[in-house]
Amino acid sequence: MLSHRGSKAAAIEELPWRFAPGKGDDQYDPIHNPGGVIGFGTAENCLIHKELFEYLQSKTAFTEDILTYRYSTNGGERFQQAIASHLNRHLSPVHPVGASQLITASSLTAIHEMLGFCLGDPGDGILVIPPIYGRFELDFGNTDGLRIVYTDMDEVDPFEGADDIVVRLKASLVKAAASGTVIRALMIVNPNNPLGRCYPKHTIRSLLRFCQDHGLHYISDEVYALSVYEGEEDEDVVDFHSVLSIDTTGLIDASRVHVLYGLSKDFGAAGLRIGCLFSRNSLLHKSMMSMNRFHPPSGPALAMASTILEDGAFVDKLMALSRRRLSLTRKLVISRLRAAGIDWHRGGNAGFFVYVDLSPWLPHHAENPEFKLAEKLLRHGVGLHPCEEHYGKPGWFRIVFSAVKQNTLEEGLRRLVTALGPKPALPRLARVNGENGHW
Ligand SMILES: Cc1ncc(COP(=O)(O)O)c(C=O)c1O
Repeated sequence: MLSHRGSKAAAIEELPWRFAPGKGDDQYDPIHNPGGVIGFGTAENCLIHKELFEYLQSKTAFTEDILTYRYSTNGGERFQQAIASHLNRHLSPVHPVGASQLITASSLTAIHEMLGFCLGDPGDGILVIPPIYGRFELDFGNTDGLRIVYTDMDEVDPFEGADDIVVRLKASLVKAAASGTVIRALMIVNPNNPLGRCYPKHTIRSLLRFCQDHGLHYISDEVYALSVYEGEEDEDVVDFHSVLSIDTTGLIDASRVHVLYGLSKDFGAAGLRIGCLFSRNSLLHKSMMSMNRFHPPSGPALAMASTILEDGAFVDKLMALSRRRLSLTRKLVISRLRAAGIDWHRGGNAGFFVYVDLSPWLPHHAENPEFKLAEKLLRHGVGLHPCEEHYGKPGWFRIVFSAVKQNTLEEGLRRLVTALGPKPALPRLARVNGENGHW
């Protein structure tokens, strides 16, 4: 009934646990559905929703031209200026970001798909360093047919020891070539999702050089750039540096570096569906523009986004508030984890998540222990997304702490601890993750 690719796309929707639990009809509500599921799987920031919504209600002035094609084509003149100024103020670029160097679409998800289309052919690979945002498989795979190739980090800290990281990346290139996969780009999420850590400048420089040496594009997804805050007192953290703030002379051709930013995370405004690509590659611009006719942002959304971004004082206030609340909320989660004997990945000072080690609680005789554990948690009314970040180590789950109100967060953590029960003294599972996939 459908085309071959249409049927393939439909099958993706059926993959077990492909989508985050806790988003359906049975969502928790303290009054109306106290037995519902508290979802910790979707990266949203509702901690600033109230302030942002009130601001938009009082300040957005729609004009007639939002009804035209012109207003929104590639983001339109007003928004492109506003986002370029925003990036220049906050990412400290070595060379100012010009409005004409930006492609704007209806989300970063759309940008990923177009970028994948423009940089690779079906069967080609995008190299990544796990753990990483699992949706890249869909964004670059569903229509582009690209593969996400997970570097085997083999105990190397992805943020330290740049030389070791490059050794692992080179090994991945060799392995990919042996299997016939042409790697087109290295994709970095900085600050990282799900670890909430930032790449040190010297690591970014090494990664840029690696890309130049191997003819790869360097894609830096910086959608959490302004969600960087104070970490735990006893943990070492690294400040965020945009790749734009690094002088790339002698490291890589500027035309190979592409930076992604959007309003879904820092501004807690995923519903506006706006994402941007910054690149100095004029051929890529042309190619992206021919694709962007399929993913135009909407005029009213751009008007709202421009209203926010043009008010620098408000942005500064909102970002400070967001950072304060994110930091406090992360500290609260960690205090609960500590009390329950649940370990977490150290060094996070960004984003909306804590990456936790639930491997002691895995039912290791089950066929798929992560799925089994996630099912058990769901029965206790808490939704964690299994196998989504492709860490390569069994039992790690991402807790998103900013998608629900504080009382709900506390209730969800209580449910998690109850569902897990006392920490069993079980042997850990051996490493089972292969490249490109679910365990
Ligand atoms: C690293 C990263 N990039 C992109 C996205 C999606 O952004 P958008 O809402 O603009 O599609 C997410 C969402 O979780 C993300 O974590």
